[in-house]
Amino acid sequence: MSNLLTIKSGSLTESRRKFLEKTGTSLILATFGAAFFTSCSSTDDADPASPTPSGNSSSGITISGNTISIDLSVQTELTSPGNWLLIENAKTLVANVNGSFVALTSVCTHSGCDRNWTFGNSRFTCTCHGSVFDPSGQVLQGPATTPLTPYTTQVSGTKLVVTR
Ligand code: FES
Repeated sequence: MSNLLTIKSGSLTESRRKFLEKTGTSLILATFGAAFFTSCSSTDDADPASPTPSGNSSSGITISGNTISIDLSVQTELTSPGNWLLIENAKTLVANVNGSFVALTSVCTHSGCDRNWTFGNSRFTCTCHGSVFDPSGQVLQGPATTPLTPYTTQVSGTKLVVTR
């Protein structure tokens, strides 16, 4: 009788151990899996945390191949020094720096963020990790060490044409 109880007890213990092993493994996987995905999304800083200016054809911005045409009669704010645009579809930054237009790639050379930008005091700042670039794309502050690629700009009438 006591053997039977022991066996049952052992059987129950064995089942319970297997159950706990399976559940424990699942819990561990769930815990570390969640941490892994949280970690992945927290390092995926390319996604914007805040809205930034963007453009499309309805806003006077037309993208065709390597050319971006910006209608300044529509994008009137860009005609004022200090204003800027992030054209997300073309991964391009455009700014009015003291009356001259500059354009750069919006793909940060540090780790590729392309939508988290601010512009002020003639400086572009990638808010992913704080790299700062001058209007020609040169690095003013890391962690980036490589300049942003500059694009050519040309004004024709009320059109600003950026060639990438
Ligand atoms: Fe790190 Fe821009 S991606 S500073």
